Amino acid sequence: MEEAREWQVVELLKTTTDFFLTRAVDEARISAELLLGHVLALGRLELYLHHNRPVFPDELERFRGLCRQRLEGRPVQYILGEQWFYGLSFSVDERVLIPRPETELLVEHALASLGFSSRGGSGPAKVLDIGTGSGCIAVTLARLCGELEATALDISPAAIELAERNAQRQGVASRVKFLQADMLEGNLASLLEEYAFELILSNPPYIPEAEWEGLQREVKQYEPKGALTTPLGLECYEAIAAQAGGLLKSGGRLSMELHADGAAAVTEIMTRHGFSSVEVSKDYSGHDRVITGTLADRNL
Ligand SMILES: C[S@@+](CC[C@H](N)C(=O)[O-])C[C@H]1O[C@@H](n2cnc3c(N)ncnc32)[C@H](O)[C@@H]1O
Repeated sequence: MEEAREWQVVELLKTTTDFFLTRAVDEARISAELLLGHVLALGRLELYLHHNRPVFPDELERFRGLCRQRLEGRPVQYILGEQWFYGLSFSVDERVLIPRPETELLVEHALASLGFSSRGGSGPAKVLDIGTGSGCIAVTLARLCGELEATALDISPAAIELAERNAQRQGVASRVKFLQADMLEGNLASLLEEYAFELILSNPPYIPEAEWEGLQREVKQYEPKGALTTPLGLECYEAIAAQAGGLLKSGGRLSMELHADGAAAVTEIMTRHGFSSVEVSKDYSGHDRVITGTLADRNL
C-alpha cells in the first residue's frame, strides 16, 4: 500500500483482499470486510453502500494494525473479540473456542426438544450445557426461551469468566448458573444442586490427538487445545453419557455435537448407557453433526 495516497472504502477492500490472497490468508475478502467494518463502525453491507467514503489516515493506521495480526494468522474473531452465533454477539478471546456455525444445529435440536416455537415460547425447562466455552449454547437458549434456566459448566475458569460476561451482555445472567468442573472426574451429580434436567447439551472436545497436526494452522496456533482434543476423541462422550442418567429427568434428552466420523462410536456409547431412540442428524455440508437420545424410563 502506498504511503501518501488517499483511500476510499471499496478500493482499500480490494487491495487488502488481493494482498491477503497473495499471503494465503483464509477467507481473505470477509477478513478485510470485517476488519475495515470494525474500524469504520460499518456493517459488511454498509461498506458497499459507503463505497466512496474516504478512509482517513488514523483509520488507515488502525486498519493496518488489525491486518498485520490477520497476516500472522490470528482469527478475525479473536482480533475483534467478537463472534456472532445464532444472531447474537458473543465476546471471545484465545481462552475459548470460537463458536462455529455447525453448533447452531445443536441449538436447533435443543429448541425442538424443548418444544420451542417463535409464537409460544417453550415454557419452563432446566438445561445443562457441558463444556460451555464462550457460553454460546446456554446463553442463546436462555435468550430465546424466556422461562428456561440453564446450568453451564466448563473445566476452564477463564471460559467460565467469559461465559458469565456473555450471559450478562445478553441479559440472561439471572437464569444461567456457571460451574467450574471436570466432567471426566465422574462427580457431576454431587456437584450440581439441581439435577433433574430436561435436556443435557454438549459440544465436547472430540478431535482425536492423532488428528491435531492436520488441523488448520490458525486453529492450532490460536484456539485452546483443551477445547478441541482428547487422546481418542471419545472420552468426553463416555463421561457425559455415563453421568447423564443421574442428572436427567426420566424421559429427558441428551444432544451432543459429533465429529464427522463419530456417529457409530457415540451411538454405541449412548445405547450402552441407557439411551433409546438415538438419532443422528447431518449438517448443511452433509456431515453427521448432532446426536440425540432419550433416557429410557427407569421404571420400565
Ligand atoms: C468444543 S469446546 C465447546 C465450547 C462451546 N460450547 C461451543 O460450542 O463453542 C469444548 C469445551 O469443553 C471444555 N472442556 C474440555 N474438557 C473438559 C472437561 N474435562 N470437563 C469440562 N469441560 C471440559 C473446554 O474447556 C471447552 O470450553
